[in-house]
Amino acid sequence: MKSILQLSNNTPTILVIFGVTGDLAEKKIIPSLWRLFQQGLLLDKFNVIGFSRRSLSNEEFKEMVLGAVKKRGGNKFNDKQFTTFFKAFSYMSGNFGDSNSFASLYNYIANLESSWGVCANKLFYLAIPPSYYESILKNLANVKLNIPCGGKLGWSRILIEKPFGTDLSTARSLKELLSSYFKEEQIYRIDHYLFKEIVQGIENFRFSNNLFENTWDNTTIEKIELRLLESLGVEDRGSFYDLVGALRDVGQNHLLSMLSMLTMEHPFNSNVNAIRNARAKILETLSPWTKESLQKNTFRAQYKGYRDIEGVNKDSQTETYFALKTQLNHPKWRDLPIIIDAGKRMGKARKEIIITLKHPAACHLCEVGKHGPNKIIFRLEPNDEIIIDFWTKKPGFESILEERSFSFFLYEKESKVQYVEEYAKVLYAAINGDQSLFVSKDEVEASWKFTDPVVDAWKKNMVPLIEYIPDTFPNPEFLKTAPDRNHTKVNSGNKEIGIRRY
Ligand code: BG6
Repeated sequence: MKSILQLSNNTPTILVIFGVTGDLAEKKIIPSLWRLFQQGLLLDKFNVIGFSRRSLSNEEFKEMVLGAVKKRGGNKFNDKQFTTFFKAFSYMSGNFGDSNSFASLYNYIANLESSWGVCANKLFYLAIPPSYYESILKNLANVKLNIPCGGKLGWSRILIEKPFGTDLSTARSLKELLSSYFKEEQIYRIDHYLFKEIVQGIENFRFSNNLFENTWDNTTIEKIELRLLESLGVEDRGSFYDLVGALRDVGQNHLLSMLSMLTMEHPFNSNVNAIRNARAKILETLSPWTKESLQKNTFRAQYKGYRDIEGVNKDSQTETYFALKTQLNHPKWRDLPIIIDAGKRMGKARKEIIITLKHPAACHLCEVGKHGPNKIIFRLEPNDEIIIDFWTKKPGFESILEERSFSFFLYEKESKVQYVEEYAKVLYAAINGDQSLFVSKDEVEASWKFTDPVVDAWKKNMVPLIEYIPDTFPNPEFLKTAPDRNHTKVNSGNKEIGIRRY
């Protein structure tokens, strides 16, 4: 993968956050900017314009930014540093549909640029619901803020969040809308899973080593499982979640993004388009559904009590857990089962990819005692770690096998703040113009093509909605076994590669 360029301290950059008073800015964007600032990764000439409908004084805005930093910015808060940090911020109250507000935004930016004496880089973060996109894009274009100044300086980019549509057809309409104002190289679509350390690391695990890649296919691998089991429930997001459900909330995006990283062909060069195309191409080979496979290989369930959550329909048919079994119609992967599942209120959180290898054709000592297949696990929760389970001779006189495990432990989760590591990298990459970990329009389309038939089948009730007790696992037939939650011999926290013994 392309290495990210160091930020140049000389290129003035302006970040405009539309919806700065909202949840996304508070939980993700502001704390991540603080993280970048603390690491010395913000430019000297960096300016953040918070844009929202609410009318706020500078003091009130400062309180808001301070609150977000204190709440989610980690434990290294320092008043003096915050004062310097906040100097980069200003607030503008405006209406997303009002051309005068955008004229004021334009003037504000033009003043900053003339004080710097250059046409600045501009990054527009749409931290607002998609229903506002059209007005904002149109108004930005009216004042020509979508047009880069030219050359290497003065670029203009937009950052947008999932959902990228609610199905293939709305995703296509969104693509049309975006492309009428911005070119693909200006559009940065965020799937924060691609910015998770472990998920980024898959590329290196595969392509920077000569350990597995040569057998990374259906000749050696027996099964791939990707799971995103959360302990939290829907909490206060009832009205959003009820329209979406688990499959569209995390399946169509995060889980398929991880699958693409795991199975894509080697892009052979670090060109952004080569990497994004490689991910899209493999997703395009996802096996089309048939009526039979939809009924046999898809599963949906809802936890008891979900319908009592504020904003959730009393007769809601929305799944809070799903499981799918599929395969890739690709010579390297054909006939290899891929199992994807995700859910809320699943007890202990388990987010991981498990690759189960085939049993060796001639296995030495396997006949003595229990012997399971080797596994490679990319685990995101409870720890960021890569684990390789293997069999070795038990030390001593007897010829018996015992299971051991190589574990590469990245860092302890406790030291992390949800979303902040990922979003700091999102912002850093967007400022640096590294689009490789942002989702392309082709990836978006390929993933909707795969999930749309499932959503339709469930709407037609072709697959019953099962109820599960919160903090239990609904156990779909084709998963055979619930996740082995005991396979979490949590590591001591050292960052070395270690061997564990079960
Ligand atoms: C978000 C979903 O995209 O991802 C949430 O909307 C989900 O429902 C979250 O909880 C999971 O992300 P993470 O980084 O906490 O695993």
